[in-house]
Amino acid sequence: MTEASPLALYAVIGNPIAHSRSPQIHTLFSQQTGKPLRYERLLAPVDGFAGAVEAFVAEGGLGLNVTVPFKLDAYALASGRLSNRARLAGAVNTLSWRDGAWHGCNTDGVGLVSDLQRLGVRLADASVLLVGAGGAARGVLQPLAEAGCSRIHIVNRTAAKAIELAAAWRDGGVSPQTQVTAGGLTDAATPGGWSLVINATASGLQDAAPDLPAGLYAAGAVAYDMMYGAQPTAFMKQAEADGAALTADGLGMLVGQAAESFFIWHGVRPDPAPVLAALREALVAGT
Ligand code: ATR
Repeated sequence: MTEASPLALYAVIGNPIAHSRSPQIHTLFSQQTGKPLRYERLLAPVDGFAGAVEAFVAEGGLGLNVTVPFKLDAYALASGRLSNRARLAGAVNTLSWRDGAWHGCNTDGVGLVSDLQRLGVRLADASVLLVGAGGAARGVLQPLAEAGCSRIHIVNRTAAKAIELAAAWRDGGVSPQTQVTAGGLTDAATPGGWSLVINATASGLQDAAPDLPAGLYAAGAVAYDMMYGAQPTAFMKQAEADGAALTADGLGMLVGQAAESFFIWHGVRPDPAPVLAALREALVAGT
């Protein structure tokens, strides 16, 4: 146990974790809202999530942001004390220590929806192509449906996973106004094009765009990549060449999910805009 700190302790836990921008984001939120706190990076062994979390509690830790590869471990840790959002996402990215137990929530979808709203994207009646069927896609499905999208078509390199995800979601039956369908990447086109195309695949990690057909974008359509970088991502370049009117990366989603976590922990909603601007500046400067 380290020396007791007078400041409330929070952290982001993952593996790897050195790249995480969460400490910078929460420190800026703390300065903005006047809520003092300490926020650290916690590197846990891939098979050592529970032990790392236990040690964190012993140190006085009150909240954790959870990133790759621990969102399912966090879900299991907080089972029985999950928010609706976490249950529907099947994963937890925000843990709060209350009354001697961990409570789990998932703020990724709220982060995406709030960033799309910032960009002026109309979600009511939107027709959305969601590319990818892993945890990232699953986490945003319900929040997009709740925001009023009329259709969400999930496509994935492995079509069976997209079909499974769509079927699982339909069984949940939470937003009946949204039609959820699925297929492979070659089934991505629709007559007239999509109003919004979201990349929830991990293809950007190899600096590549998913292998999508051309002609995906309706007039005025938006392309959103959940990945982000100092330069436009491969998916954003692909979308621009295919006629998207606006392309955006996922830095705003990252700040948006952090703002919602901050609200859960501290009861104050920070303004994400200046923090997003500061992060963008740091990203472009390579700091
Ligand atoms: P996450 O939790 O970030 O979603 P994941 O569960 O491992 O991570 O899912 C990764 C997603 O990216 C999957 O949809 C994967 O497609 P497969 O199910 O076919 O593996 C997708 N993906 C990864 N690399 C890709 C690539 N180069 N092109 C297209 N899709 C890719």
